[in-house]
Amino acid sequence: MVVSREKHATAAGLAVLQSGGNAIDAAVAVGFALAVTHPSAGNIGGGGFMLIRLADGRTTFLDFRERAPLAASRNMYIDPATGKATQDSVLGYRAAGVPGTVRGLEYANKKYGRKPWAALVHPAVELATSGFPVSYAQAQSFRAARALAQFPESKRIFLNDGKFYEPGDVLVQGDLARTLERVEKQGSKGFYEGQTAQLLAEDVARHGGLITEEDLRRYTVRELKPLTGSYRGYTIVTAPPPSSGGVGVLEMLGMLETTGYEKSGAGSATAVHYMAEAMRRYFADRSENLGDPDFFKVPLTSLLDPKYIAKRRASIDPVSATPSSAIKAAAFNGKESNETTHFTVADGEGNVVSVTYTLNGGYGSKVTATGLGFLLNNEMDDFAPKPGEANMYGLIQGEANAIAPGKTPLSSMTPTIVLRDGKPVLALGSPGGPTIINSVLEVIVNVLDFGMNVQDAVNWPRFHHQWLPDVLSMEPGYSPDTVALLEQRGYRIRRVASQGEVAAIRWDNGWLEGAPDPRTEATAEGH
Ligand code: GLY
Repeated sequence: MVVSREKHATAAGLAVLQSGGNAIDAAVAVGFALAVTHPSAGNIGGGGFMLIRLADGRTTFLDFRERAPLAASRNMYIDPATGKATQDSVLGYRAAGVPGTVRGLEYANKKYGRKPWAALVHPAVELATSGFPVSYAQAQSFRAARALAQFPESKRIFLNDGKFYEPGDVLVQGDLARTLERVEKQGSKGFYEGQTAQLLAEDVARHGGLITEEDLRRYTVRELKPLTGSYRGYTIVTAPPPSSGGVGVLEMLGMLETTGYEKSGAGSATAVHYMAEAMRRYFADRSENLGDPDFFKVPLTSLLDPKYIAKRRASIDPVSATPSSAIKAAAFNGKESNETTHFTVADGEGNVVSVTYTLNGGYGSKVTATGLGFLLNNEMDDFAPKPGEANMYGLIQGEANAIAPGKTPLSSMTPTIVLRDGKPVLALGSPGGPTIINSVLEVIVNVLDFGMNVQDAVNWPRFHHQWLPDVLSMEPGYSPDTVALLEQRGYRIRRVASQGEVAAIRWDNGWLEGAPDPRTEATAEGH
């Protein structure tokens, strides 16, 4: 079963499974195909996380997220004249961290896959060379991404030189095809060394960016132990730091577990209240306590200590919202320390792969590297560009997530696999910046606590609270009655059109149920 954001990519993954590849191989093929067919988030110029559970029960986590270039520094986005953070962490060459996707996918294939590398990259080369028809939603997405016009290569390739694409127009990406061909033939060296690396470093240098050939050559994947916790007899295997997502899901599930919140029913004002209060408390903790574990001792044991979680739970008023101003990030003694995409793959042997990868914002920095055809990320904005001030997601973050050379920005990406009695029952993840963590939480409790089938769980309207700003954002689908009850409890509500794009697989009595998110053009295909 393959669930991904775009049908050609889903088909590429399915073809790998049908021709004897395992779930890891299929995920690699999906990752490359999305880099062609879903350019706002699919990428080779960004990075991500891959959570793997092998058929023999082993689990592992590949961190191929972007790293800060060696020339990066703490205050690089602060304007010395005004003392304010500039837009450079969001738009243009200086926003890009060192991409990790190609090395991450190669690492996964070499260590856990079995298909030849070229067979997994080739479908993407074909899609870029021959092109694919632009869908209605993709045509709209290009039109909406006006900032692409500021960068000539992006304008030429993605905006049809300013004429825009109509649905059904075929998008051919010749420069990207040639870059992918080098990757197909030379492996990750075709990206991190030689012609690609040289052209990229030269282009970046010409435009005041930081990534050098040395940064590219030195890029390495980190293989980490996933974070594991339990909830009502289920085992939750999820993303460790530098993701803030796994710890968030576990801390929030811990706060909810004994409240009885679920008895009020999915979507009730009481259930939304308890979940929003858990979100508020976790996001306060996130602001100060999460960062790259190679640079900051993340107090994981303290954050997930049942005694600490019980204290957090006890501070939830059963009726009224707690103002965020009354909630502080936990301070532990001696410190024990929005556009992204997710795909989920399961094979018939029992291997499961959950991947979230990203350029950060939609179309990343909006820069397409000259002659190379791929967009560069703006992942540097996932650091605290100015510690203590909001980044583009409105997240307040502290010194733990300040910029340093070689450091990895804190992420919210939360690829997760839920097990019961050692067997997978649910695998999922989502894009959406900080909303990712709450979208994943909500789909998990929709299945485990509210008994929904997986498609209903994914479809169900979502909501999000992130401590600051003190706002509860809600998708359409909640009745005016529920919204009024929440307002009476003290919530400031903002209606949003859409939150997240969850790609989930459920195991049910020997069947694999794929649930693409109807908010998008995602597809699920199995055999
Ligand atoms: N760039 C989104 C995230 O990593 O959370």
